[in-house]
Amino acid sequence: GVSVVTKTMPSNEMTLESVKDYYGKVLHTSKDLKTSACTASGRPHPVVAKVIRSIPKEVREKFYGCGAPLPLGIEGRSVLDLGSGSGRDCYAAAALVGPTGSVVGIDMTAEQLAVARAHADQYCKSLGYDHCNLKFVEGYIERLEEAGIEANTFDLVISNCVVNLSPDKPRVLREVYRVLKQGGEFYFSDVYCDRRLPKHVQEHQVLWGECIAGALYTNDFIRYARQAGFGDPRILSSAPIEVHDPELKAVVGEAKFFSITYRLFKLPEGMLETLCEDYGQAVRYKGTIKGMEYSYMLDDHHLFEKGKLSLVCGNTAGMLGENGVSWLAPHFEIIGDR
Ligand SMILES: C[S@@+](CC[C@H](N)C(=O)[O-])C[C@H]1O[C@@H](n2cnc3c(N)ncnc32)[C@H](O)[C@@H]1O
Repeated sequence: GVSVVTKTMPSNEMTLESVKDYYGKVLHTSKDLKTSACTASGRPHPVVAKVIRSIPKEVREKFYGCGAPLPLGIEGRSVLDLGSGSGRDCYAAAALVGPTGSVVGIDMTAEQLAVARAHADQYCKSLGYDHCNLKFVEGYIERLEEAGIEANTFDLVISNCVVNLSPDKPRVLREVYRVLKQGGEFYFSDVYCDRRLPKHVQEHQVLWGECIAGALYTNDFIRYARQAGFGDPRILSSAPIEVHDPELKAVVGEAKFFSITYRLFKLPEGMLETLCEDYGQAVRYKGTIKGMEYSYMLDDHHLFEKGKLSLVCGNTAGMLGENGVSWLAPHFEIIGDR
């Protein structure tokens, strides 16, 4: 069962120290990685790609993400990045939220934080901001409270190739749920597996550091997410990851790995049901998100064209703004109730 998998892992502290060492001392740039897991990122949206081009080189060179968890339409929003590393996604988010929004990155590795902090003020100046809206905090994603991150404070939590490295993933999900505002969203990319990995794979330190050995079996992830309060997790995108190195391939065998971007909404009790139900509701996208003027993609099976009426289940209506709760509410008209 799920609890057996957790028990067979090396001690949590050992895992954290070994990951810290990997990202602080072993790796210097993304070229040092042995698998494509941490760099499997698909091409970001053109609006995001343009922002990324203006980010300082040192920050970009130490990017180890496996996706592009940067939602559009986040002007004025508060964003938290779990395991922010050298800060690439935080820098991009700082530009996307604009001067009235704010971004906090949290990471446990001093060397990564130093790079992230070194360029922040200058970068904010380059964006023309009076105050820097970008802050980096040292701490563990399993213990956000200890790092001074309070409940109900963020519109969005993002993360890029980090949760797989955590020895206590259910706790990370509970912490994210706690710090999100009602109507907020955990929008994040990570590595997943098509099965539960056996003990000898989980204990392989290089494979753990490379974001492979700690990959959750997708169905276990969904179970943990639901237990933490995130009903109805949605997949935005999914791409296979190859383990090319023959020695590492021999350890993982036939296990298949994927980089997946999930969207988990925090909505009031009862709004997200375990199964989708049809209440005869419909939604209309207003076309108001910059970069998505013609259509909005909620997940891999929901694309809403501007101005077109679409029938949706209650869960989808909730995610898009039923009762004005979701952060997406300003961009959608919701027709009908439950
Ligand atoms: C694969 S890198 C990704 C970094 C960054 N998100 C990016 O896309 O470049 C993983 C990062 O997560 C951090 N990390 C891993 N486990 C952590 C934990 N339990 N608490 C805080 N940070 C953690 C590491 O220090 C490292 O900087």
